[in-house]
This record gives sequence, structure tokens and C-alpha cells, in this order.
Amino acid sequence: MKPYAYVAPLEAATEESGVPLDRIIKLDGNENPYGCSPRVKRALSEYPFYHIYPDSEQRELRQALQTYVGAPGDSIIAGSGSDELIDFVMRLFIDPGDRVINCVPTFGMYQYSTDAWAGKVVSVPRDAHFAVNIDQVKKAAGQGAKVIFVASPNNPSGNLTPTEDILQLLELPMIVVLDEAYYEFSQKTLVSLVREHDNLIVLRTFSKWAGLAGLRVGYGVFPDNIAKHLLRIKTPYNVNAAAQVAALESLKDLDYLRGTVKAILAERRRLYEKLAQFPKLRPWPSEANFILCSVVDHDAESIYRELKRRGILIRYFNNPLLKNYIRISVGKPDHTDALVAALNDILLK
Ligand SMILES: Cc1ncc(COP(=O)(O)O)c(C=O)c1O
Repeated sequence: MKPYAYVAPLEAATEESGVPLDRIIKLDGNENPYGCSPRVKRALSEYPFYHIYPDSEQRELRQALQTYVGAPGDSIIAGSGSDELIDFVMRLFIDPGDRVINCVPTFGMYQYSTDAWAGKVVSVPRDAHFAVNIDQVKKAAGQGAKVIFVASPNNPSGNLTPTEDILQLLELPMIVVLDEAYYEFSQKTLVSLVREHDNLIVLRTFSKWAGLAGLRVGYGVFPDNIAKHLLRIKTPYNVNAAAQVAALESLKDLDYLRGTVKAILAERRRLYEKLAQFPKLRPWPSEANFILCSVVDHDAESIYRELKRRGILIRYFNNPLLKNYIRISVGKPDHTDALVAALNDILLK
């Protein structure tokens, strides 16, 4: 199987570019440039029980999430990042050879995790606007599939999947995993549908909006029939004590975190306008904290390399599904300014 294409650590970028660590502009991981709530740092430094195993059943965290999510605590299970929950869903449902539908291009973890559990990925390409191709999915489902993954907003395209489309998928005899990792930026959720559909799983994360990517904590909302089995097969103590403390404290500081989300949304608008001014870049509208651009009359990979040399990290794609694209995470205003200055230099010279 292909290994997961994870983002390189900051140290690697410093080594390669010679730009000091504190001057690297990291716009390749859809992380939160404002970091976590200051309350999280305080709570982590004061927590007295690092020598004791964390609560394997995550009682306090699941209870606190109940109010934030608007779903019963029993239906919520946390993971070491939502990545781990994707893996647990595969662990629960997939026997070798079982089919999993993947609406590509999309987040790489769905393919990786299916491969790791020896499932068979059935890739159904999205249409020219990156919408899920419902008719093709229905056809693929007709040949038997156990699970479908849909990220909404989708990574890397940034678009939402309309409710009507999800409702059609829920009619099919398979588990629908709706990945709402970027929910706080889109403000659109279908979590309330989990109560009515015993084949819907909604995944969320603290990595993006709450600035906790480094601590690894995400959660899923599961129908009762799935939650009870998932609790049995998940690894014990899977969310470490620091991550549980940080997530709980984040939920107590929503005003602060909503302020940083608001700043990111304002910057997303500004970044979009700036990118659209480059004749060689075609930014796609985004409901998340990143913007995908198709690149015309220039090589996406060379933009990536030129930016990297200047200490600015982005992602590029050049494959049959994404021919000559770059993806830029929304940073702080000064990150946008530095990026635009570098792009001027690279694209207009
Ligand atoms: C769609 C999507 N889902 C899940 C994740 C992973 O989130 P976590 O950090 O919670 O594992 C990402 C990260 O980029 C993502 O883009």
C-alpha cells in the first residue's frame, strides 16, 4: 500500500530553505495560525495527573461535547484526531476485500485507512465543480459497498455537499461517513440527522478551529447501534490526558475561539481576492480555512518550490484528478501579505 502523504515538520522546512523556524510561514496543513486558547496552555501547565492513565471512556469530554454538538453524550466518541476515528470505522466494518466508496479528489486518509484494513477502494470522481457524483455513487453502491466517505467541506476543494445529496446517499444500504472537519468555518452541519439515520456517522475535529492539531483530538457522532460497538473495539485510553484537558478547556473558551475563526473567515475573503488578481491563478470559492487554485500557464510544482525556498509552505497537486493545482491554508494578514509579495515575484517576473 501507499504510505500516507503527511505534511513535513517545520524543522525540515528550515533545514531545506535556511529560513529560521520562527519565520517559516506554514500554509500547508490547514492549521489555525492563531494557535489554541490561552486557557488551554494554563490548564495544561496546571494539570496534576499526567502520571495516571486518562479516562478511557472520555466521560467528561463526551459530556462537555454534548452541549457543543447538540447530540447525546452517549452518541459521541473521541479519537486521537478524527484520523483515528476514520481508522476505527474501518476496523469495525471492513473485512478484507470489502468495498469502500471514495469521492475523489478528497482527503487522503480514507484511501490510506481502507488500504490498511485490506478493503477495496472504489474511487468515484467528483464532477468538474467538485460536487459528489450521486448517480455514479449509486451505480458503485449497486455493486456492493459497505462504507462511503464524504468530506463536507471537502479537502482540498473547499466545497460543501448539499443536504439533498447526503439524504440520497443515506437511502443506500451502506454507512455514510460525513466528515465535518471544517464545520466551524462553514457553519453547516448535518449532525441532527444522526438521530434519524442509523447509517450516518459525522466526524469532527479540534485540529482546525480550536488550534489543537498537535495534540490530536477529534470526535464522531454515531447512531446508538454503532456507538456501542465502536466503544468496544476502540483502543483503550486512545485520547491522551493532555488532549482531553485541552479539548475540555477549549469548550470553556468558545468566545475566544470563535473570534479567531472570525479572523480566519475575514482573511479567507481577502486572500481569495488577492489570489484572483493573478491572471495565472484561478481560486475556487471555499467554505473551509484553505483555498484551492488551479494554475494556468505556469507549473504548480515550481510555485510550490519557489515559495518553499522563501520559507512559505503550501501544497501542490499534479495528478489526473487535480492537474496543476495549489492549495493554500488561510493564515494571518501578514502571512497573506508575504505570500502575495512572493507570488508577485514568482508569477509576474
Ligand atoms: C477532511 C479532513 N478530515 C479529517 C482531517 C484530520 O483531522 P485530525 O487532525 O482530527 O485527524 C483532515 C485534516 O487535514 C481533513 O482535511
